[in-house]
Amino acid sequence: MIKREDVTKIMDAIKIEDVIGAFVPLKKRGVNYIGLCPFHDEKTPSFNVNPVKGIFKCFGCGEGGSAISFLMKHQHYTYYESLKWLADFYHIKIEETELSEEEKQERTERDRLFHANEFAQRYFQDILFNDPEGVSVGLSYFEERCITKETIKRWGLGYCKNSWTDFCDAALREGFTMEELANAGVVVRNEEKKSYYDRFKARVTFPIYNVGGRVLGFSARILSSDKSKAKYVNSPESLIYSKSRVLFGLHLAKESIAKEDLCYLVEGNMDAIMMNQCGVCNVVATSGTALTEPQIALIKRYTRNVTVLYDGDNAGIKATFKAVNLFLEQGLNVRTVLFPDGDDPDSFARKHTRDEFKAFLENNSQNFILYKTNLLLQQAEGDPVRRAELIKDIVHTISLVPDMLERSTYIQQCSSVLQVDEATLAKALKDQLRKNAVNKAKQQAKEESFSQTDVPITERSSLAFSQQKDKLVENPDYEQEKGIISILLKYGEEETNQDVYDESGVLEKKSIPVAMFVVCDIANDDVDFNDELFAKVFAKYKKSIYENQTIPSAKEFIYDQDDGIRQLAAGILVDGKTISPLWTEKNVSVPKPEDQDIRDKLIFQSLLSFKLSKINSYIKKINEKISKTTDPDKAFELLSENKRLTDLRNKIAAMLNRVFSN
Ligand code: GTP
Ligand code: MN
Repeated sequence: MIKREDVTKIMDAIKIEDVIGAFVPLKKRGVNYIGLCPFHDEKTPSFNVNPVKGIFKCFGCGEGGSAISFLMKHQHYTYYESLKWLADFYHIKIEETELSEEEKQERTERDRLFHANEFAQRYFQDILFNDPEGVSVGLSYFEERCITKETIKRWGLGYCKNSWTDFCDAALREGFTMEELANAGVVVRNEEKKSYYDRFKARVTFPIYNVGGRVLGFSARILSSDKSKAKYVNSPESLIYSKSRVLFGLHLAKESIAKEDLCYLVEGNMDAIMMNQCGVCNVVATSGTALTEPQIALIKRYTRNVTVLYDGDNAGIKATFKAVNLFLEQGLNVRTVLFPDGDDPDSFARKHTRDEFKAFLENNSQNFILYKTNLLLQQAEGDPVRRAELIKDIVHTISLVPDMLERSTYIQQCSSVLQVDEATLAKALKDQLRKNAVNKAKQQAKEESFSQTDVPITERSSLAFSQQKDKLVENPDYEQEKGIISILLKYGEEETNQDVYDESGVLEKKSIPVAMFVVCDIANDDVDFNDELFAKVFAKYKKSIYENQTIPSAKEFIYDQDDGIRQLAAGILVDGKTISPLWTEKNVSVPKPEDQDIRDKLIFQSLLSFKLSKINSYIKKINEKISKTTDPDKAFELLSENKRLTDLRNKIAAMLNRVFSN
């Protein structure tokens, strides 16, 4: 837990443009900043950062929120991790209070999985360096493969002993539960025997890290050449580890990838480690699987140039063919390097210096499309049917290249390699491009029917309306409640001129803070909010005003520890409109609330329509009771209550009409 005062210090320090600017290049435009949205793929910037309100909003994909929601979304931090990141960013010393039992329970599941994995990483490394078995089996294996101690430390490598429960026992002593260790994947639950054992028994361990360098899981290699056992055993998918979203080694490679503007892609973990040790650091491993779109997106954060390194007789090359189409569609440039017979990046790195390795890569990299063409051509030799298929396949691949000039260069090159007339290929390409366009349009239509922001205005409002209707069935006062909360969040700290009673009971115009006026007025009438979140926000205002005579700022809500409150507040601030639906219902042109007069009116009117809505709901309830009761006394009582409320309603309605008519 972070102390309340420290949280306040952090909140005061936050400048959203600095925070987001640390991850996304931003340009100033007017009072706002704009940039390319990191949450979806775009070429023209629709990502807006508003320093005054402390919020961001993407008009392309709709993502929006505060600096904290940005960190949670972009860096996958929890709320507390975001606060800690901010404290570090602004050099604010924070004091973390000891966790209470209750807070310990509250620590998120994700956090516990990270802790379990990080404990395992330290433990396995400790065994590797300090345990007799670790040294004689694990460490000597790494030495045999020319891996230095420095490399072992840099990559966090380790060894899990040849015992069923050595790690289990250590982790239990440390206070972990078997269940969380099993959830983290470091131990395996044996359902029959109702017991647990070490997943990575008798293997050297390679931690798998996220981009930020936290341990998500392990890949563990067997030391013997026993063919009956899997060479690698990996952590299963978990709450924190999804293998299709991770690239092995990216946490160490990312800076170098950005600097060199190039990413080398290898298959084996060992290849990545040895290239890094050799000094070629812009390398990540696919860990023997076909690349996925999320992995490509990871690479694209740092560069658009990828070179795939494989040994010649590799079966994984087929999988790469699929990935290459993906690469091209994502606008990446892909080259490939074939290693001489018997060599792979790992063995090559052992035999050569960094400069030799780099020179080799530069001199031997070839365009992937040409490489693919040549390879397929060899396979199709003397088989006209396969040859025809091959041409189709290559043309399809070329059609995915976004740049037109590049496409025509490929057509020229392939025409000479394939010995097919250039015009024939060009015609085939044209047909394929048309097919692609049709497919893309279909795909977009499908996506758009789900996505509210991409729908034209008229349809969008009807979509919003149907969502609105659902809310209204649950809570008939929803719009009016939202109107009040919006006013509090947007103008709470500003002043408003309103009629208020002075001490002697005389009504007079007075300037008072908006939140003070609104909260006291509603609290006086003792009305409640139906919506749980609105009620929470209102309670916070009430508490702060009544107990501390201070008005909370909107910041406190957009940085609140409650997910729902944060989202609600950011949503309201992001959305430019403040107007309660009555303005539109009554067909009055919507006023700009910047004007003091109009704003005062808007506040007064919002309070009235809030109360009107509440009274209508009460009247409805009373009428229901009247229809059900059989007791004449009770009925009389209810009827007089109904009369009182109806009179009140008419009075308020009349006041509202006056507000609109003058
Ligand atoms: P060395 O044989 O030590 O050089 O390992 P390597 O990392 O170079 O492995 P290899 O080239 O055989 O395989 C490439 C990658 O595929 C490995 O790094 C693993 O990520 C993955 N892989 C290989 N074998 C297995 C296996 O048996 N199970 C799983 N899950 N993955 C494997
Ligand atoms: Mn290898």
